[in-house]
Amino acid sequence: PDYPTKFPEGFLWGGATAANQVEGAWNVDGKGLTTADVVRKADNRKDMASADAVDQESLKVALADQTDTHYPKRRGVDFYHHYQEDIKLFAEMGFKVYRFSIAWSRIFPNGDEATPNEAGLKFYDRVLDELAKYNIEPLITLSHYEMPIGLTIKQNGWASRKTIADFNRFTEVVFKRYRGRVKYWLTFNEINTSTWGFHETGAIDAGMTPEQQMQIRYQSVHNQFVASAIATKQLHTIDPHAQIGCMLARQQTYPKTPNPVDVVAAQQADDLNLFFTDVQARGEYPEYMNRYFAEHHVHIEFGEHDAQVLRENPVDFISFSYYMTTVTSANEDGNAAGNMATGGRNPYLKESDWGWQIDPVGLRITLDEMWDRYRKPLFVVENGLGAVDKLEDGHVHDGYRIDYLRQHIEQMREAVSDGVQLMGYTMWGPIDLISFSTSEMSKRYGFIYVDQDDAGHGTLKRIRKDSFYWYKQVIASNGADL
Ligand code: BG6
Repeated sequence: PDYPTKFPEGFLWGGATAANQVEGAWNVDGKGLTTADVVRKADNRKDMASADAVDQESLKVALADQTDTHYPKRRGVDFYHHYQEDIKLFAEMGFKVYRFSIAWSRIFPNGDEATPNEAGLKFYDRVLDELAKYNIEPLITLSHYEMPIGLTIKQNGWASRKTIADFNRFTEVVFKRYRGRVKYWLTFNEINTSTWGFHETGAIDAGMTPEQQMQIRYQSVHNQFVASAIATKQLHTIDPHAQIGCMLARQQTYPKTPNPVDVVAAQQADDLNLFFTDVQARGEYPEYMNRYFAEHHVHIEFGEHDAQVLRENPVDFISFSYYMTTVTSANEDGNAAGNMATGGRNPYLKESDWGWQIDPVGLRITLDEMWDRYRKPLFVVENGLGAVDKLEDGHVHDGYRIDYLRQHIEQMREAVSDGVQLMGYTMWGPIDLISFSTSEMSKRYGFIYVDQDDAGHGTLKRIRKDSFYWYKQVIASNGADL
């Protein structure tokens, strides 16, 4: 007989965004400039690395430019002034949770002030009030791909240990301010992408050798681990009822063949990806990583109490984004793990217009394996399809998006029935926003269409797509009606 598959009661359905991709208002109410505000739009849609291409020269140009013409993340989709309308639309779909990030530079414009900017804190007060009106739980990311550019200029971002104290001054302020109003927090979005560079580390390392870059990036990761553990400790003291999680861009690697050497290669690639969660959930560096660092001449500088801080403050739950899987073999010399844009092709999978391989079954595999590895509650905090949508007679018929999401949610349901403890699902980009990797507007993810083009022209009008009505029914039926 069939085993009944269903989602648990209280499952948190919703959507996820990031401040630098939706808010706009980059220079309003005292906000400082961020690392995301100095990233130019990619010239080419296939250029997935534009967010890491910042060097000293392009930084200088960006700092002198007081417009948003070449810097789309400065304008976002003006959530800053549309948040009431947008949250109302989320509520209409029945959202139980909304994941968003706080822009650190709204609270500490330069990153190193002694006191916070009240106008910035007030904005998030208003957002939280609005969510409370509709009983939508906030899930807040403390650092989503941005930091005050002042900290890059002063100390090369996360490459410096000093940034730990700056960050934890910020986290203490927001934990105290929003105490009792926020049950779920995340520290660093996709912390593993620090190995790609600037967008996550805030450290300019363009032009350095790959060895030097590796050293800077993994040291930045270590500093983020410590800051994350300290934030965990702060939250548990300030608001004992709240929970905090880590966040990984999970990318499962499959072996290209059943040849055991390929299987080992895939396992190693997976370890390089899971290393981050291993540290944040288990509280110590795994031995395979100590070996990897030794073999690659990476030396991680530990502060006197770092090991203890990490050990004593593991996260409460584990969250991750899921977009694709990859393939590797022992013969290829590619860095299959850690970089979504590289890695081998899987002949059994289709891909999106941006070459991201679509693998719903991989989500079940990922959930089952992560549950086995950690035995901590899991949360899928990003998953979605970036596509070119056409607005015709006021409608967007995005059946392709519905298919993508349906297939992933089905597999999630299978995993839950395999015994995985899953807290919720926040689909990425419920409202169209600026793409992280290319800063395009035309790479759309939303249930809600935003009338704005790549050049920033448009009325900013919000329009419900077909998928809007579909997701509403998914939530109303707690995932039974797909
Ligand atoms: C994740 C990020 O990597 O993927 C988001 O956390 C990002 O910020 C999302 O937007 C999709 O990537 P992109 O490049 O299509 O916007």
